[in-house]
Amino acid sequence: MKRDLVSIGDLSDAEIVSLLDHAGECEQRGGSKTLEGAILATLFLEPSTRTRLSFEAAMHRLGGAVITSADPQASSSAKGETLADTVRMVDAYADAIVLRHSAAGAARAAARVARAPVLNAGDGGHEHPSQTLVDLFTLKREVGRLNDLRILLYGDLRYGRTAHSLVRALCRFGGTVLAVSEPGLELPEYVLAGLGPGASAEPARPEALRTLFRGEPPSATLIRPRSRDSGPPRRWEPGPGEIDAVYVTRLQRERIGAERAAPVLPPVDPRFLAIPALERAIVMHPLPRTSEIDPRIDADRRAAYFRQAAAGVPVRMAILSWALGRLELAGPRRPDATAQEPASSAAGSCSERTCISVRESSTAPAERVRGADGSARCAWCETPWPAGQAPA
Ligand code: NCD
Repeated sequence: MKRDLVSIGDLSDAEIVSLLDHAGECEQRGGSKTLEGAILATLFLEPSTRTRLSFEAAMHRLGGAVITSADPQASSSAKGETLADTVRMVDAYADAIVLRHSAAGAARAAARVARAPVLNAGDGGHEHPSQTLVDLFTLKREVGRLNDLRILLYGDLRYGRTAHSLVRALCRFGGTVLAVSEPGLELPEYVLAGLGPGASAEPARPEALRTLFRGEPPSATLIRPRSRDSGPPRRWEPGPGEIDAVYVTRLQRERIGAERAAPVLPPVDPRFLAIPALERAIVMHPLPRTSEIDPRIDADRRAAYFRQAAAGVPVRMAILSWALGRLELAGPRRPDATAQEPASSAAGSCSERTCISVRESSTAPAERVRGADGSARCAWCETPWPAGQAPA
């Protein structure tokens, strides 16, 4: 089976653990000739610094070669070429394709067309699985474990695609997530609906953060995994030192539009880090940051974001070794939870304007699947399928 990484759901828990172990070995060992003779294409139709350069550095460290198209204006998509046609060509030139695209579902569509494995480096506001592996690697190293983590998620959670893949992964490892979002930019419905059996998401008002919000606890969503004793998930109010990490995302202005100029949430600054619940918490951010993290905390030992960015290289070395068939991961492969049933082509169209099936129906024809929660969803971007639109 072709080794695409379109969603974090493409890897089983055991495979994730095994991949992170291998990333640790790559970090220790440094370079090798594992991928000598192989060519990686990095096709970035949206801006990037870290993701593209760390994938490319990883390929070079493994002895492979890289071809890149990093400026959308300089690529044929600016001339009106469809994603499917671009990917068909790149597929003929390379052994693996890393794709970043502004449309949700673009990586899945590319994976259907390409013979080479496709690695999703961000598809619109949807998912960013390789970043999640970098995040998990960082959490494991800095907090000391992957299981039962307690994370404060903070910022634009609607369009922050890294947060979507991360929440899914954290929940699978028993994590508890307190999600405090910019007003109106809460986690999308499909992320909460896809958390897996027994997980719960409910409104919360964390007292622990009261001091930051003019004496009012902020409105939040508390996401809890399935309870081990099979009872209902317990409530949780973070006590001193009980939050393991704060994961911050910037306002995704390129997706929101110009109307939201500045964040409403207070920045992560020295006052923020003085909250007793955050005593031991590391601060993470996929970067680039804008104003949501005050540079005055950079020197605080809890500021982990630059160490997190550095982990991009060893983690992507492991991803590339796996995708190109030079690394076997422990555990069975996991069918993507978002595509459990055979897809059916559908009459009508997805209601999400940024979906690849709406932007480019010739590349990704309208298609419905039954999601993990049993409801009908778009096969590409997971948005609930509009009621009343029957399958073809
Ligand atoms: C993120 C992305 O592109 O989604 N950056 C990254 O890959 N490290 C986060 C962001 O742009 O805000």
